[in-house]
Amino acid sequence: MATDRIETLLDEQRRFTPSDAFKAQAHVRDTSPHERARRDPEGYWADWAKQLEWSRPWDRVLEWKPPHAKWFLGGKLNASVNCLDRHVRAGKSGRVALIWEGEPPGEVRRITYGELHADVNKFANVLKGLGVKRGDRVAIYLPMVPEVAVAMLACARIGAVHTVVFGGFSAESLRDRINDAGAKILVTADGGYRRGAIVPLKQNVDEALADTPSIEHVVVLRRTGQTVTFKTGRDLWWTELMARAPKDCPPEAMDAEDPLYILYTSGTTGKPKGILHTTGGYLTHVYATTKWVFDLKESDVFWCTADVGWVTGHSYVVYGPLALGVTEVMYEGAPDHPGKDRFWSICAKHGVTVFYTAPTAIRAFMKWGTELPARHDLSRLRLLGTVGEPINPEAWMWYQEHIGGKRCPIVDTWWQTETGGIMITPLPGVTATKPGSTTVPFPGIEAVLLDGEGKEVKVGGGYLAIPKPWPGMLRTIWGDDERYQQVYWSKWKNKYFPGDGAKRDEDGYFWILGRVDDVLNVAGHRIGTMEVESALVDHSAVAEAAVVGRAHDLKGQALAAFVTLKEGRQGTDALREELKNHVSKKIGALAKPDDILFSADLPKTRSGKIMRRLLKDIAEGRALGDTTTLADPAVVAKLRDQYESQET
Ligand code: WTA
Repeated sequence: MATDRIETLLDEQRRFTPSDAFKAQAHVRDTSPHERARRDPEGYWADWAKQLEWSRPWDRVLEWKPPHAKWFLGGKLNASVNCLDRHVRAGKSGRVALIWEGEPPGEVRRITYGELHADVNKFANVLKGLGVKRGDRVAIYLPMVPEVAVAMLACARIGAVHTVVFGGFSAESLRDRINDAGAKILVTADGGYRRGAIVPLKQNVDEALADTPSIEHVVVLRRTGQTVTFKTGRDLWWTELMARAPKDCPPEAMDAEDPLYILYTSGTTGKPKGILHTTGGYLTHVYATTKWVFDLKESDVFWCTADVGWVTGHSYVVYGPLALGVTEVMYEGAPDHPGKDRFWSICAKHGVTVFYTAPTAIRAFMKWGTELPARHDLSRLRLLGTVGEPINPEAWMWYQEHIGGKRCPIVDTWWQTETGGIMITPLPGVTATKPGSTTVPFPGIEAVLLDGEGKEVKVGGGYLAIPKPWPGMLRTIWGDDERYQQVYWSKWKNKYFPGDGAKRDEDGYFWILGRVDDVLNVAGHRIGTMEVESALVDHSAVAEAAVVGRAHDLKGQALAAFVTLKEGRQGTDALREELKNHVSKKIGALAKPDDILFSADLPKTRSGKIMRRLLKDIAEGRALGDTTTLADPAVVAKLRDQYESQET
């Protein structure tokens, strides 16, 4: 057993080729699209764009004035029309768009394209009635309920720009995002269900809105039914507004380059970046990748388990699958509630055929045991996907065997909030997969590896770079184009820098190694070390803090914080808890440090820079790297002893 496992981990050449049966029914069966896209990338992407509905055709496919790209210039379209109206017009209004399962067992809603279309029209009129105009920002802070899709598509219908804030973020995080975006309206719920408990969304909202001058109204959806406080004139109930709203809302003809949404993501400073996506290119990219990567047909039931608060939920719960007109599952709650087999019971109950989740979830399933999926009929599954962080080959193999019954191809998809859609991925009917590799770029996308000097590495390790613009790419950072240029385009001339390290094998396959900047990936969520450090030093007891990532079995990475206290403060267990809660309050529970070590000093260079690399060595129990540049070499030895004694 143990030897097998080691072999699995080491054998990079182990391959899985798609079965003849899978190939026979797949949208793509050979590499001709890759070749076509290489010969004529613009023509190739234009062919995809033609599969969408435009109210005015574009004049020009691409304008590339590095580092700014525009796609489908002059074209006009509306994202909600592409996700709804055209399916309704094609006679598919009775087709189920969303099979929604609530966290409390037994709660299921099936919403057809016709019903979703009707709700989106009405909610678009609600927003208009509240004074929302084209270009205005609307913040959305909702649980995973169908209304989150309704709210997003209603914004798209009237040309308002949505910014969805994940329900796990704290009041302060919500406030900062609302203020950065200058949102006029906030759409929220009384609360949301999570692991049987209630997340008090409206209570967080009340706290956040103490300091958000741009917000004029709050629309509140009743979900949990708990008592909430209402501010007269500002707060309004969703159902009451919907009951009064006119039925039809004609869609705005949006320019291909008009903003569709802003989504905040962590960077290397304390301030999250508002990633701006526009309409035509983004929709083309997510439509194309949804169709080919997930090989979706009318007979499929797709389930992407991501929350709509993250980009995966934007692209592969809302815009991609709905633009394609497929049936999908949306689940409100946690994977382990009420039992640790909840996902498998949902797959069996709704006949899920294509399933897309994150490695951190797969590692949790592995830990919970094979008997849980074995209890359920997963025979309708035909394709599996993963995203969010590098998947270890052992988890890949487990997924393939125990969820996919050894018959389902696995698509390991690399992409980012900034890329909008999937970039490096197998095509399931074509690409031979290797556990742990995201394989090759999607047709029409290029990727290379560069060394420290910017020279291309054909085989070996380096920095991942995207040398050509692609339709779904971010257009800028909201309100901070300088930061956009600096973060993504200053490392090399005219090549996008995603911040990931990777290696490339002799077959040209990419193996993503992880972030090369101060951004951590904790359970598939991007967290900037600086954000957590700022939250820690915001506490009155803290003088200085350094946060590093350490390897973690389930989460991929865990947060280790090294904290120096102010004179006279004692590093007690109670203070440790207080600091964890403080971070949770400032950012959200997802950013809570796993370990906090109090230390009189931090290892610094003579110029005063904290040497995080050494802190990481300490946190991971490794031999210390080069300590020669340290101002005081004794500090690290002391810290290591302290860390080790704390762990026992
Ligand atoms: C990481 C999520 C390895 C990567 C869609 C990237 C991955 C960051 C993979 C983006 C993958 C995403 N293999 N690493 N298949 N997919 N990543 O913005 O470090 O939340 O830069 O977007 O996740 O995270 P984000």
